[in-house]
Amino acid sequence: MNQQNKPIHGVWASRWVFILAATGSAIGLGNIWKFPYMAGENGGAAFVLVYLVCIALIGVPIMMAEVMLGRRGGMSPINSMGRLARDAGVSQRWKAVGGLGAVAGFFLLSLYTVIAGWALFYIWEMASGALRGAGAEEVTAVYEGLQANVWLVLGCHTVFMAMTMFVVARGVNKGLEVAVRILMPLLFLLLLGLLGYSFTSEGFMPAVHFLFAFDASAFTVKAALLAMGHAFFTLSLGLGAIMAYGAYMPREVTDRKTGKRKPVSIASTVFTIAALDTLVALVAGLVIFPVVFANALEPGEGPRLLFVTLPLAFASIPFGMMLGTVFFVLLTCAAWTSSISLGEPLVAWLVEKGWNRIKAAVVIGGSAWLLGIGTVLSFNYWSEVTFLGRTFFGNLEFLTINIMLPLGGLLIAIFAGWVMKETHARKELAMQSFGLYMVWRAMVRVFAPLAVIAIFIFVALVPDGDDADEAEADVPVVETVVEPTGLPETTDE
Ligand code: PFF
Repeated sequence: MNQQNKPIHGVWASRWVFILAATGSAIGLGNIWKFPYMAGENGGAAFVLVYLVCIALIGVPIMMAEVMLGRRGGMSPINSMGRLARDAGVSQRWKAVGGLGAVAGFFLLSLYTVIAGWALFYIWEMASGALRGAGAEEVTAVYEGLQANVWLVLGCHTVFMAMTMFVVARGVNKGLEVAVRILMPLLFLLLLGLLGYSFTSEGFMPAVHFLFAFDASAFTVKAALLAMGHAFFTLSLGLGAIMAYGAYMPREVTDRKTGKRKPVSIASTVFTIAALDTLVALVAGLVIFPVVFANALEPGEGPRLLFVTLPLAFASIPFGMMLGTVFFVLLTCAAWTSSISLGEPLVAWLVEKGWNRIKAAVVIGGSAWLLGIGTVLSFNYWSEVTFLGRTFFGNLEFLTINIMLPLGGLLIAIFAGWVMKETHARKELAMQSFGLYMVWRAMVRVFAPLAVIAIFIFVALVPDGDDADEAEADVPVVETVVEPTGLPETTDE
């Protein structure tokens, strides 16, 4: 029956547009902000190696499953799961997988646009030359001053949310497709430009050594499990974003050379996306660490790496303000195409319920914006307000990234591997090599679920992993920050 599904939201113009859109979702703060600082804190190459293995062995098979389910379902993740469950003759409760993803996407959207808003602020700081020649104290004061200025962070969060929902409201072809066609080439171009610069830097070789020279003693179980969790986040898995994008993927395209219709292979498409995402994370490391090493700064500065260490380095190098501006524009483009994919599944679901797309985007964006205020306040007035040892932001981040995302991935793997009829999965994947198909099947049935369960055990055993601690430690206390905060005293807790 699914062959006749009419995609009501539209279809990507070509396989390459789907690749750009999914790569746009995958490449984001995870690649340019999180990956370098996680590698910096967890022994560089040891972390990178495990990360690469996880992408190949867990990320790629689950991504193939998500695209396959999305394309077969042809609707928003919630309704696609409903259709697929009917197809498989199982309970409609499987729709909850789509629901879980939609809620997780909503939560993540609310905090993603706050952090991405910081990047907007740093574009301004760099472009205006305000940080030229600044020392460590000044750069730290700018970062802490930003966190303390609720109105400024709220303003940046608002602008970023509006940018995101503007694109989502315009729909698949006029919004998402146009955005990725412009932003993704721009992102690759900016990244290549910055790589060219860092190639000439004296810090380049130390950076290569740091990222690629494997030192077995730096290898820890914690780093391995963090790498596994990050593989999910960076490929946008478990939330239904890739499933939603898969629903807009054509089954066949016209071959330019022969003029004949040919099937669009899910496997090779997913390999391309995973390879591009990984390449961008590694190149981001090769752009950031040379600047850090050339200025004798610390690579293991955690979440501050991008917003304190890097600006400090840019402040002192020739053309630093220009390079810094380019860098933060790049970060903004990357985050923008990811946040769009966080909003799309819920908006698509509301459209399927008969809502007008613009109204759906305004309601979802507005509600996520409201929830985002909790994240904004977590870095200042609520920095001391904790639950289970974490701030509001810390809890939301922990819940989505460490619990909901791997859980979604686990359920998707189980559905694709165990619940769905094998003939359907095989037909939709249409892989030419039976051997490779069997490898995929073994991965989604056994290996990926076991790996995800390992992440859960790790999370349960180490409830406040270093990661969470550092995020907390990074929160400046409101008393120590620069005035004026822009808020009346009475709201200060
Ligand atoms: N993959 C994005 C990143 O690396 O920043 C984050 C993300 C986007 C995760 C969309 C999940 C998602 F559905």
